[in-house]
Amino acid sequence: MTRTSHLIQELEQANSQLLQSEKLAAIGQLAAGVAHEINNPIGYVFSNLRTLTGYVDVLLQIIDRIDDAESLGELRGMKQRLEYGYIREDVLALIGESEEGIERVKGIITALKDFSHIDETTFQPADLHRGLDTTLNLVNNELKYKAEVVRAYGELPLIDCLPSQINQVALNLLTNAAHAIEAHGRITVRTGHEGDRVWFEVEDSGRGIDPAHRPRLFEPFFTTKPVGEGTGLGLALSYRIVEKHGGHIEVDSEPGRGSRFRVWLPVTQPDEPEEARIPQ
Ligand SMILES: Nc1ncnc2c1ncn2[C@@H]1O[C@H](COP(=O)(O)OP(=O)(O)O)[C@@H](O)[C@H]1O
Ligand SMILES: [Mg+2]
Repeated sequence: MTRTSHLIQELEQANSQLLQSEKLAAIGQLAAGVAHEINNPIGYVFSNLRTLTGYVDVLLQIIDRIDDAESLGELRGMKQRLEYGYIREDVLALIGESEEGIERVKGIITALKDFSHIDETTFQPADLHRGLDTTLNLVNNELKYKAEVVRAYGELPLIDCLPSQINQVALNLLTNAAHAIEAHGRITVRTGHEGDRVWFEVEDSGRGIDPAHRPRLFEPFFTTKPVGEGTGLGLALSYRIVEKHGGHIEVDSEPGRGSRFRVWLPVTQPDEPEEARIPQ
């Protein structure tokens, strides 16, 4: 092996490792968000269960008294004293709210499962909207304080893709959008279909991109974020993923007004590659 090809191989290896670390960073970020999202419903479901335990205790007291009660009047008095009317209403409300909380946790776990096939290498027909919803669900924690999120979905066919990797692209575009917004803004996720291609885009009302930075956006390590906040690898990884799919990314931005990243993807892959590998 010549010295040059050896160097190239080392560079490629270093590059793969970097992309891997961006994935890990994204997963770390995700984990923090998910922990927060799950903690909140678990918190109130737990507190509801405590209250419900108290209510059940009261209801049992009343029922237990039926056999020994001197009179119906006594039971009626007891019902009133123990605020049966209020309990009756609140019980159902608490159960309903708890069910919603559990549903929410279930949703997050389903989304995490979708994300956990992170190293999948087989192209499969997938619903892009589902992927976007999953991703939005997961980054909700990061987005909700920053922006109003608007979904404007078109009609889309299923597309051949590596779903978890497309989710990664969406994740990065969404977090970049959130980072670009200083106080509070709007993030719009749109999709559309043209002939044998589909697209999805993330538009933000953030600070926009300095035209001088435009040519460097997809360079590994290019970041304008402080150390520790940006790796500069998100768009580089996204570029590679989209390229593997035979698609491309369009950028439109106006400093001070916002940016729009549009990802074009083919509906079908030419001939299912046996190993459609994104470097791991
Ligand atoms: N939506 C956006 N608005 C403004 N700037 C952006 C946006 N998306 C990306 N950028 C710019 O591109 C750079 C590279 O993005 P990325 O590769 O995701 O790395 P990172 O987010 O870690 O900085 C960012 O640091 C930022 O300067
Ligand atoms: Mg990024």
